[in-house]
Amino acid sequence: MESLQHLKWRYAVKRYKPNTPLTTDNVKLILESIRLTPTSLGLQSFKVWVMGPDSEHREAMKSILNNQPQSIEASHLFIFAAQINISEEDVKLHAERMATERKQDIRELDKFVQGVNGFLKNQSEEERLMWSHKQTYIALGFAMAEAARAGIDTTPMEGFRNNDLDAYLKLNEKGFASSVILAAGQRDSDNDFLANLPKVRKSQDIMFEFI
Ligand SMILES: Cc1cc2nc3c(=O)[nH]c(=O)nc-3n(C[C@H](O)[C@H](O)[C@H](O)COP(=O)(O)O)c2cc1C
Repeated sequence: MESLQHLKWRYAVKRYKPNTPLTTDNVKLILESIRLTPTSLGLQSFKVWVMGPDSEHREAMKSILNNQPQSIEASHLFIFAAQINISEEDVKLHAERMATERKQDIRELDKFVQGVNGFLKNQSEEERLMWSHKQTYIALGFAMAEAARAGIDTTPMEGFRNNDLDAYLKLNEKGFASSVILAAGQRDSDNDFLANLPKVRKSQDIMFEFI
């Protein structure tokens, strides 16, 4: 139970201390937790755009994030975007990475490659995109939990205009569609009404059924 303290400490921060940037190590930790996140078939079919406090894009994020204060006050915004259409080329690159890391002959992976390509072909483009969106949420969870363990405050954010963000960052042209945003920084407990409120969760009795 001790190890759950960081999950009790974290909350979805509404107000961050402005001008309180994450350290380089903080950012590296978040990026690495995203990179190490497990994904279906290992394909990692998403990408993350990172906006620091000095990014030229921060001002535009205000309206895209519906004027939520985190858009301006948080140190960083990590924009998760799902890959729109995973191709056979992506599967090939993944197999090459596997062969390199595991010092395997790539031909040993032929069956795996065929299986993955078959799986992808059986889905519509929309289904593949939904599948990629799901992967981003796993990474969002990993990043939030790891950030909390390191004492970094975060907010998972869906309250933004996806289409506007896609257009602003030209994500569709790059083959991606925005999924979810992770804001990070340092909580401003004095100004955040959420800072000291107890957590609201269903009880284990309601949530779990042992069968
Ligand atoms: C996917 C997702 C999207 C969310 N979007 C927003 C958001 O846009 N703005 C916000 O202030 N909080 C947002 N939240 C925060 C939730 O309201 C919050 O996590 C939930 O009420 C549980 O509270 P806690 O995280 O403080 O424990 C989001 C949470 C999740 C998981």
